[in-house]
Amino acid sequence: MTAAVRIAPSLLSADFGRLDESVSACERAGADFIHFDVMDGHFVPNLTVGPLVLRALRRNAKIPFDVHLMIEEPLRTLDQYLEAGAVRVAVHVEAEPHLHRFAQHVRERGVSPGVAINPGTSLAVLDEAVRFVDFVLVMTVNPGWGGQSFLPGSVARVRELSERIRSRGVACEIAVDGGITPGNAGALAGAGAGHLVAGSSVFGGGDVAAGVAALREAATGLRA
Ligand code: DX5
Ligand code: ZN
Repeated sequence: MTAAVRIAPSLLSADFGRLDESVSACERAGADFIHFDVMDGHFVPNLTVGPLVLRALRRNAKIPFDVHLMIEEPLRTLDQYLEAGAVRVAVHVEAEPHLHRFAQHVRERGVSPGVAINPGTSLAVLDEAVRFVDFVLVMTVNPGWGGQSFLPGSVARVRELSERIRSRGVACEIAVDGGITPGNAGALAGAGAGHLVAGSSVFGGGDVAAGVAALREAATGLRA
């Protein structure tokens, strides 16, 4: 299976009263990124955290933050996340018509641009964007909450996106988000996913290090 798969625990499933401790636990566990889910109560019904919390957590963290904006009109507040210390940021294709402007703006500020896509949106809408974003965040659940079940068909969807990217001869990473567990990580990595976001499978068992290790081992085909 794929050798280098990055693991990004989602804070959405962590204890919101102790987010800084959860970030430290992810660092000790050797996670590659912290996945920071921003929801505005409009694009998705749920409401989570914003740039002030990102800035506060970044103050003591060494691990890079991967920001997933599940918000309407993301360009209005994008700079606040860039200034707060995101190293990767994804907006939804369903929320932002100016993907090229977004990518240009983010890249000029030294941050990696990505585009997220909901399960019900055709992959064909990304055929141009894969040429100028660094990654596609394929939602493998409908966004809005942690702890949902992985949607069947998502592995085939990752494989299809992988082929679309390859046929264009570009380098665009595939990230997956929602219901990721050691049970599906290997198949996703084999289909072309290089970055796995996981909330409940990392924080749900009470042992962050074991959760990260199990995902990494499953994704790389190593023995658990
Ligand atoms: C869903 C979020 C995900 C979520 C993943 O809307 O974007 O990042 O927290 O959580 P699990 O792994 O529990 O599905
Ligand atoms: Zn997310």
